[in-house]
Amino acid sequence: MVEKYLQPFQLSPETLQEVSARLRKDLLRGLGKHSHHKAPVKMLPTFVRATPDGTEKGDFLALDLGGTNFRVLHVRVEEEAQKVLKMDSQICAIPQEMMLGTGEQLFDHIATCLGDFLESHNLKCQTLPLGFTFSFPCEQLEIDKSILIRWTKGFNCSGVEGKDVVQLLKEAIQRTGDYHIGSVAMVNDTVGTMMSCGYKDQSCEIGMIIGTGTNACYMEEIKNVKRIEGEDGRMCINTEWGGFGDDGSLDDILTEFDVEVDKTSINPGVHIFEKMISGMYLGEIVRLVLVKMTKDKLLFKGQISEALGTSGRFETKFISEIEDGLENAKKILTELGLDWGLVDASVVCLVCDTISSRSAYLCAAALATLVNRIRNNRKLDHLKTTVGVDGTVYRKHPTFSSKLQKAVRLLAPQCDITFLVSEDGSGKGAAMVTAVAQRLAHQSRLLEESDGEDDDDEEEEEGQ
Ligand code: BGC
Repeated sequence: MVEKYLQPFQLSPETLQEVSARLRKDLLRGLGKHSHHKAPVKMLPTFVRATPDGTEKGDFLALDLGGTNFRVLHVRVEEEAQKVLKMDSQICAIPQEMMLGTGEQLFDHIATCLGDFLESHNLKCQTLPLGFTFSFPCEQLEIDKSILIRWTKGFNCSGVEGKDVVQLLKEAIQRTGDYHIGSVAMVNDTVGTMMSCGYKDQSCEIGMIIGTGTNACYMEEIKNVKRIEGEDGRMCINTEWGGFGDDGSLDDILTEFDVEVDKTSINPGVHIFEKMISGMYLGEIVRLVLVKMTKDKLLFKGQISEALGTSGRFETKFISEIEDGLENAKKILTELGLDWGLVDASVVCLVCDTISSRSAYLCAAALATLVNRIRNNRKLDHLKTTVGVDGTVYRKHPTFSSKLQKAVRLLAPQCDITFLVSEDGSGKGAAMVTAVAQRLAHQSRLLEESDGEDDDDEEEEEGQ
């Protein structure tokens, strides 16, 4: 009986291969010169052209906005110790009203939090470079110019979509702050994660987040990024794979529950892949399945409690807790006001396991697409690479990471992948991007200077 409800969530290896093949096509559409405008997987250039080489150093500020909290960090990159150190950090909550309010209110709040942090850590008199991790899809024009394409993950502040987010931050600092910041580098959290792991392991060329939202970035050959000039070298591409399926390409694997979650979200039709995978939605999918089973008298003697009947009340963290042990399941079901028996508790565990496993397998299919692409790009029989990972779902769920890793090995057998969980990745990584940008700027200044000296020599020679 229970199987009937869960079967649509169970994806065979063949289906996962098919999902991976569809994503492969979508990556190409996103990279194309003309096709990228309409591509569901945006494949955004990040202007990050190099991963760390271990010579970066200095003090930086980092801002991290992307989930329900906003963080300010003071980060030190130490060349000698090859370490990125978090000196201090502070969390500021973003109230729900602010997530749905005006952009001006949001950025004023950010500027005020940053000012308070600088004040309390005696940093106000310094002008430190700032890495800004802004974890939403942005069309990046330069490292410090980034236009928000659209909000995701429950944010919907007015007057920000279509605007340069760095500019909005700078204006807010001018309005509210009595402090200055140095050069700004904008990064997506996936890029921050890749870069923070990249200092430790220089073969880290992919960053992946499975938290409130999901996404990944990777190093692509510039010659394949048709929408930007240039032939040589690589650039980090923010795939925005959460948008996979937005053109209907995943409709055949969506369940009625996915359709419902999308319909009742604040952005229907958008980020379909993300809605099957990430922490913002998994709990709600489970809740909808449990409600249906209860209505059909399979669970809880047919009685839906007020909590179970309320959208958003079954949190994604419950899934991790429930799968960690039956005792947790019993406690949570009691807290949700349900009249449960032992069979109910085990069925709930099974539902959680089915839905979190599907999430892990879909991520694995997407990650396999990326590693296979990198391997093909480099014409290698075998690729050895590292993925920097972050996000609460990946970190906190008891079996998510092992399921994902096992499935990627099956779907990308010629790739040997090391997974590195990034500590404070998006904050430290933003500092790292700023540090790499400074190193590259410094190197090109040195080059120009030495070219200039050569020119002088030539002039002198001509004059003689
Ligand atoms: C955003 C991405 C982000 C991901 C993980 C998604 O909703 O569109 O930019 O990287 O969440 O935070």
